[in-house]
Amino acid sequence: MNIVNGFSKLTKEQKIDWLVSNYFNNDQTVVELLKSYWNSDKKLQKLHDEFIENTITNFYLPLGIAPNFIINGTTYAVPMVIEESSVVAAASNAAKFWSKRGGFKATVLSTEKIGNVHFMFQGSKQKLEQFIETLQPLFKERTSGITKNMEKRGGGILAVELIDKTNELANYYQLHATFDTKDSMGANFINSCLEEFANVLRDEVTTFDLFTNDEKESLQIIMSILSNYVPNCVVRAEVNCKVSDLYSKEIPNPEEFAEKFVQAVKIAEIEPYRAVTHNKGIMNGVDAVVLATGNDFRAIEAGVHAFAAKDGKYTSLSHAEIVNDEFRFWIDLPLALGTVGGLTNLHPMVKFALELLNKPNANQLMEIIAVAGLAQNFAAVKSLTTTGIQKGHMKMHLMNILNQFQATESERKEVETHFKDQTVSHRAVVDFIENLRK
Ligand code: MEV
Repeated sequence: MNIVNGFSKLTKEQKIDWLVSNYFNNDQTVVELLKSYWNSDKKLQKLHDEFIENTITNFYLPLGIAPNFIINGTTYAVPMVIEESSVVAAASNAAKFWSKRGGFKATVLSTEKIGNVHFMFQGSKQKLEQFIETLQPLFKERTSGITKNMEKRGGGILAVELIDKTNELANYYQLHATFDTKDSMGANFINSCLEEFANVLRDEVTTFDLFTNDEKESLQIIMSILSNYVPNCVVRAEVNCKVSDLYSKEIPNPEEFAEKFVQAVKIAEIEPYRAVTHNKGIMNGVDAVVLATGNDFRAIEAGVHAFAAKDGKYTSLSHAEIVNDEFRFWIDLPLALGTVGGLTNLHPMVKFALELLNKPNANQLMEIIAVAGLAQNFAAVKSLTTTGIQKGHMKMHLMNILNQFQATESERKEVETHFKDQTVSHRAVVDFIENLRK
């Protein structure tokens, strides 16, 4: 058993040595591989080493650009970090398509963030309500050190409410707090406020005269944490045009296309098996920009999927309709994002990405990211309802197959020419390369 003590205290080289001798039979080519991904700029490498614990090297993902995104009249080249071969191409295709049809419109509908102090209490609910009411000024006072800067930027604590959850779990109550965190995602701010609210509860319960001793002793803080479910931090992105204006080389029959497209979205609305994949396509666009801009894609994923199931059944995040010959396609997404704090000031590529997007504030970034999701969804559903997804997907995947076979430049040229008008499949490409090499 390779149990190690004090691993985090070892130097990076010592960690690699330990790893390679314990898991790779001391194979020095593994050491070389790991080191080949170190940045030659030592200062830059140190910065990345210190993002997390126990870093041994870097793990590359490509950063691609999807140009021609017109959003609320401004043209953006959108940075995307993603490993899936067809995503940037699909986003670029949708961006170009809509750039000729008025572009994307996006609006932030709400920006409220949420956090909870989860606690147990046994006794009179009425007295508890009075207790929380008397604590309201203290919640503000005791967090003033934390909220001072946020308030200067126009944000802060919006409300702290008592929620009775005893019907679902015996003795369980919450402080349900809402926040405006302006341009920061606000996780640290929210969690610091919540922990202070919990301290206030703990400190003040002992001196609240209305409580009996048993009631005082029953109050137990379980935990204080923000919620990544943000149904009141929502952005809407949409496109619309006359059905006939959907006409293009790829869409020779716009009426049929629009109807099939709307049906495909309706299927995702009623059928969870399809909705999950439909939404996955949306998240291809969302996550890629979330990553490029240094935001927390796990938080976004968790919140978005909870939102997709908010009415008790998992459903499509996007919607489409044809009204009076007008095609309309839109999405509402809950996105808690930051453009200050966290990695945004630290990671040079994140700084680059934000500069490329014209240094957006959090609301503008919400708009851009919702548009990236909608564009991705448009491209996917367009392919699915016309040519099928594999044509474009495999075309992009061709590069991966060529790399896998370490194809030479001339082999690549031959393959590309051959598959220009042939269906790409893994087998067909392998056969073709093997044939060339005979
Ligand atoms: C693949 O990454 C995403 C799609 O499956 C999305 C969809 O089916 O809508 C193409």
